[in-house]
Amino acid sequence: MSEFRITRTLPEDAMAAALRADVQNGLTSDPKTLPPKWFYDARGSELFEQITELPEYYPTCAEREILAGRSAEIAAALPARTLVELGSGSSEKTRHLIDALPRLHTYFPVDVSDTALEQAGRALVAERPGLNVHALIADFTAALALPHSPGPRLLAFLGGTIGNLLPGERAEFLASVRALLSPGDALLLGTDLVKAEDVLVGAYDDAAGVTAAFNKNVLSVVNRELGADFEQDAFDHVALWDATNEWIEMRLRSRIAQTVKVPALDLAVHFAAGEELRTEVSAKFRKDGVSAELDAAGLGLERWWTDGEERFALSLSVAR
Ligand code: SAH
Ligand code: AVI
Repeated sequence: MSEFRITRTLPEDAMAAALRADVQNGLTSDPKTLPPKWFYDARGSELFEQITELPEYYPTCAEREILAGRSAEIAAALPARTLVELGSGSSEKTRHLIDALPRLHTYFPVDVSDTALEQAGRALVAERPGLNVHALIADFTAALALPHSPGPRLLAFLGGTIGNLLPGERAEFLASVRALLSPGDALLLGTDLVKAEDVLVGAYDDAAGVTAAFNKNVLSVVNRELGADFEQDAFDHVALWDATNEWIEMRLRSRIAQTVKVPALDLAVHFAAGEELRTEVSAKFRKDGVSAELDAAGLGLERWWTDGEERFALSLSVAR
């Protein structure tokens, strides 16, 4: 019999406090910033799923191609009894991995989006008799504790979401992942690769405007949670390639000079006309860089797989 459980490891008031702190700090800094984790309320998670189906947004189909072709090899290298997935979203591509792991006991999807976890978890147990799914509502950038479960454990971090962390945050994150792994456990990491600027920018500025709606959704989250009066139409979606840092930046550019009120923080935030608020970085990687970051965290790169067009990579690091 399959079982589905969902546990909130992050109390709702801690989540609310984190949003308040991030909005207070981010909107009073220069330049203004907001962390990308606040995109993902129910609407944001739905918009992200639409992004994954856009013709311009290649990372999902590239990573799916690798998982479809290599899950058997991954399972042979690491016959996991526990699969933990950070930032699991819809868990759609993960099905390839789940199906390739014959001894899998429990799948732990971990996400800040309770709606994504509910939908994904219920669908999975209905489709896969015998699979236990224990969803965890948690922030993977905060101290992560995993419930006891049989090893070996495979910790998957797919989609290129590691690129949404800044370099210092990535180092901290990888060190905390290393600390979670026992000898014989492994990390499976998805990284989007550096490629032509027009392909990259197109993926973050699609013709249908779905990414623009996703970007502006963070303003609705701040309005709903903190009573702010952001007007989505007063901002333009911006996606640009930073060739020095090798990352895409998403920003919201104020169309006019305006003051936005955030009553829950007793804050009035002035935007000059043309001023930009950075909402996300999405770093793109090269094999050497991934290898160096894994090494620095005490995790060597053992296997490296790409899709046929070398747009995206999966790497496997086994803890010793
Ligand atoms: N892995 C999926 C989804 C990627 S979208 C895929 O490859 O398609 C990024 C996911 O990470 C979203 O579901 C979002 O809710 C989650 N997420 C973003 N920041 C997070 C954080 N700090 N902690 C936990 N989940 C986070
Ligand atoms: C989740 N993450 C890897 C996505 C990315 O490509 O950086 C989020 C996203 N932002 C805009 N489009 C998709």
